[in-house]
Amino acid sequence: MFDLSNTNSTLVDFDLHTGLSKTRETLRRPLSAMKGMYHDQAAFDATVKSGDPLVYEFFDMGVPDSSGDVAYGTSITYPGKVGDEYHMTKGHFHTVLDTAEVYYCLRGHGLMMMESPEGEVEVQELTPGKAVYVPGRFAHRSINISAKEPLITFFAFPGHAGHDYGSIETQGFRKLVVERDGKPALVDNPRWSK
Ligand SMILES: [Fe+2]
Repeated sequence: MFDLSNTNSTLVDFDLHTGLSKTRETLRRPLSAMKGMYHDQAAFDATVKSGDPLVYEFFDMGVPDSSGDVAYGTSITYPGKVGDEYHMTKGHFHTVLDTAEVYYCLRGHGLMMMESPEGEVEVQELTPGKAVYVPGRFAHRSINISAKEPLITFFAFPGHAGHDYGSIETQGFRKLVVERDGKPALVDNPRWSK
């Protein structure tokens, strides 16, 4: 629009329909990258064997990891299930535990699953136009409960927050979201233990 060179700011495109960018690459997580995340191991193995679908992708914009910076990007979780469990992101705590994050839903229908180390569980519904503020200390995972549409969110969190997948990679979250009678249901994770 104006001829201004040597900018310190950044302008990036994120497509509202696909969540993707013409100028940046995503990090992609096929189902095979999520070993142990879904409760139905047989369904997991069969789905990986039959084509290893892309479950989600997201942007790492390479923002500096300082507390004054803000990491941001879109996250796209594709529709589908593994057994009766909906497609979801791995989910994580922040390494600096008490750092928050905002997710703004651009497209689709999903849930934000959150839990604290002390066992508080919270779930918020995501539809276009809704923003979820994930408070510090809460692990968070996006779950796509639409049969057809990708769940697309725009996220922002402090640059120094970091990602801690440790306890989630070994036993997951306390609660799972599975399909029961065609609808999402919150159930106990049978693999979760203190
Ligand atoms: Fe996060």
